[in-house]
This record gives sequence, structure tokens and C-alpha cells, in this order.
Amino acid sequence: MAIEAWFMDSSEEDVKKPHRLDPNQSVSLEELKALGVFSWKLNADIYENDPELEKIRKEQGYSFMDTITIHRDTLPDYEAKLKVLYSEHLHLDDEIRYILDGRAYFDVRDKQERWIRILLTKGDLITLPAGIYHRFTPDETEYTKAMRLFVGEPVWKAYNRPADEFEIRQKYLSSLQGS
Ligand code: LAC
Ligand code: NI
Repeated sequence: MAIEAWFMDSSEEDVKKPHRLDPNQSVSLEELKALGVFSWKLNADIYENDPELEKIRKEQGYSFMDTITIHRDTLPDYEAKLKVLYSEHLHLDDEIRYILDGRAYFDVRDKQERWIRILLTKGDLITLPAGIYHRFTPDETEYTKAMRLFVGEPVWKAYNRPADEFEIRQKYLSSLQGS
């Protein structure tokens, strides 16, 4: 199964809930691609020795990788970190995550500034383009193990919105035109 995505409601309820519209309004992989969001489905059971993952890493130049477990027992300052990750932000580089276990949500803005919620489960690898506004939260299961990939030396710096002055933001916006 490919990743699932939908437009979010505007309720202030617990962010770890799905926040689907009623009726649900799903977002297709094509619509995500038009925003520069790409995904792959891999076999996470063999991530340590997976030729498919190796191929993607080679083709995309993902030289760096590490793993992180987002759970209250493993992540120091859990609640504070979640607040930071759920603040709307962008990066100057692509954000690449591979879900090795558990599940989580990435929210991205579409062209009309609507929030799209993307559910990632075990085996999903996703790339968010540099300059896209996004945020992250665990879902109600509150457990995700993820691989972080990066082209070259990793830079984790996030710029909270507003960050429209960055060239990469303008570049991202122009990439949306005509699509
Ligand atoms: C990050 C994600 C989770 O910046 O958006 O690490
Ligand atoms: Ni981010």
C-alpha cells in the first residue's frame, strides 16, 4: 500500500488524531508529486541490507543516514521536541525520512495553503522538497522509528514560518508554477 494523504480539518483537538474532513477528502500521490513530495514503499524488515534502498541512496546521493526513535522513553525532552517538530517550518535542503517501524504524520501545505496530512507507516520513504512548509507529529500510537537520510553532511536547521526571504523558498514557489 502506498502512503495515504488527506486534507485536514481545522479543529484544535489533539494533533495526534487524524483530523480528517467529514467526508474524508483524500489527496493522491499525483497531487503530492506536483508539490514536490515523492515516496517509495520498501521492505523495512531488511533495511540494514536492502538492495532497493541501496539503489535509491546511490541514485539520489543520500550519503548520510542515521536512525531515530520518537517515543517518550527514548527521546529526551519528548514533549518539548514534539512542539518544535510540529511548528510550521522549512529547511534549505530536502527532508528525507524512511519509516522503519511504527507510524507518524507529516503535514505539508498545498498551493492554496491548505494542510495536507500524510500518514507514513512502516516501509514508507518520503522526500519533502527544500523550501516547502511542513510539520511533523506522531499519531495516536506515539511510536515511530525512522531513518534520516541526507545528501552530504546533515543540516537539521529548521526555519519557522515566516521564512519567505530564503532563495530556496522562492525557488520552491517557482517550481510550483505551471504544475
Ligand atoms: C524535521 C521534521 C520532522 O524537520 O520535519 O525533523
Ligand atoms: Ni522538517
